[in-house]
This record gives sequence, structure tokens and C-alpha cells, in this order.
Amino acid sequence: MIRVTGLEVVFGKGTPLEKKALSGVDFIAGESQFVSVIGSNGAGKSTLLAAIAGDVLPQAGRIEIAGVDVTRQPTAARAGRIARVFQDPLAGSCGRLTIEENLALADARGSRRGFGLAIGRARREMFRHRLKELGLGLEGRLEDQMALLSGGQRQALSLVMATMAQANVLLLDEHTAALDPAMAEFVLDLTRRVVAETGVTTLMVTHSMRQALDMGDRTVMLHEGRVILDVAGDERRNLDVEDLIHMFRKVRGQDIDDDSLLIE
Ligand SMILES: Nc1ncnc2c1ncn2[C@@H]1O[C@H](COP(=O)(O)OP(=O)(O)O)[C@@H](O)[C@H]1O
Ligand SMILES: [Mg+2]
Repeated sequence: MIRVTGLEVVFGKGTPLEKKALSGVDFIAGESQFVSVIGSNGAGKSTLLAAIAGDVLPQAGRIEIAGVDVTRQPTAARAGRIARVFQDPLAGSCGRLTIEENLALADARGSRRGFGLAIGRARREMFRHRLKELGLGLEGRLEDQMALLSGGQRQALSLVMATMAQANVLLLDEHTAALDPAMAEFVLDLTRRVVAETGVTTLMVTHSMRQALDMGDRTVMLHEGRVILDVAGDERRNLDVEDLIHMFRKVRGQDIDDDSLLIE
């Protein structure tokens, strides 16, 4: 569960570049809910995720994860509760470590049993099994450096690592935007599977209206640091991509001539 109350984030406060990125966001994602988040460039989507993860400290408001107030907690203190996958496939894993070392790190974070990088036979078999389930043929490449993998393979592994960490919350920030269409589709399917299997509460930022309606069970639209649309259930099922674009147009005062609004 994520509860965000009155969240405000201002960048460069008191400077000529001062920018209010979040202007009082109220938002509750229930346990195991999967929420798609859309909004044009600069709407505050990444800032919201960064604030939840602790990378950005809010000027006002409160953030609770699984009932714990983490608002003032440093990133490291809440890291065990949060798994993240970024747009950049290089950001979620360490290219210089092998696949199994990356998995071991994720596993150690989740279990807190201090395994560290020591990889025994049982663990290696568990990793192999997890990789085999992916169907990407990576189970035979445990000792390959992460840097050898394609962007899509790395995103898929980032998701596997996210589940190993047994986090309360999964934060996905346009995690398929840098992938080719086939790989993007694969990672989206994997995302669905992972969320369904683990029941992790998930926020997925996307620039795709189609994904925003197809993925998860709720769609939230941010605009200028505020939640301006929040739909679920029948209301959401009755929306189509055209409707969403129409809403976008309305809040943006018709200036739809904007390539930040990609329609897929
Ligand atoms: N580290 C930062 N320093 C200054 N301004 C920032 C920073 N991060 C984001 N911003 C600004 O905050 C606003 C929201 O950004 P962001 O959350 O990245 O939007 P989105 O992810 O919806 O495109 C934008 O105007 C952006 O330029
Ligand atoms: Mg962003």
C-alpha cells in the first residue's frame, strides 16, 4: 500500500529556476493495486516516483508505504520496501557484474540473511530456474557480464531482481520506452505476470495511452504536479484511447501539438 498525502516538491527553491514539480498530490494505491500513471512531459510523474523512493525530499506532505511513514526516511532505509525499474536499461543493474552476481545482490537485499555475493549451488539452481521461466535463454548465461545483454534482456532481469527483493512497492518509470516494440511487449507481459504473481503494489509510468488503459487496474493522470484524473473499474473500462486524448486536450488548452504525447 502507498499513501501519499498533500505531497509538494519544489526544485531549486529560492532560485530563479524554482520549479514546483508536485503541487499537493493526494493518492492512495491499495495493497496489490496496479496503477498506470500518465501525463505530459514535466507533469511530475518521475518526481512522484522519486519522492516515494526517497531520492527527492518533499517540502510538504507525507508518504506511507505498507503503513510506515517513510517521508523523512533516507533512500537506503526504505530501499528494502521498494523495487524500481527505470527507462534506461543500464540503470537497474550493474553492467560489470555477472548475471548471477546481480541476482545475488537483489536476493540478498530481499532476504536480509547476509548472503551477499556468495553463490552456493542451491542458490545458483534457484537463479537458473528463475531465468528459465523468462524464456529468453538466459539460464545458460549466469556467468556472463550483465553488460553483454540487450536492453530488453536487462529490463526483464531488472523485473526478476525486483521480485527477488520482495518489496512492498514496485515503481516502473517508462520501463519499456527505450525498447523495440517486440521486446517492449515482452517486458509488459512479464510485468503483468510479476505483479499478478507477487501481488506487489505497483505504479507504472507510461507515455502510452494504450498501455495506461490496458495495464493494471487503475489509471491516474498527472498535470502540473496534480492528479487530474483517477479512474478504475467500469468507468475505466468504458474509456478508450480517444477519450484519454480528449481529456489531455482539455487540460492542456488544446495545445496538442506536442510530441510528448505519443499515442500507441
Ligand atoms: N532535479 C531536478 N531539478 C530541477 N527541476 C527538476 C528536477 N527534476 C525534475 N524537475 C522539473 O520538475 C518538473 C517535473 O519533472 P518530472 O517529474 O521529471 O516530469 P515527468 O516525469 O512527468 O516528465 C519539470 O518541470 C522538470 O523540469
Ligand atoms: Mg519522467
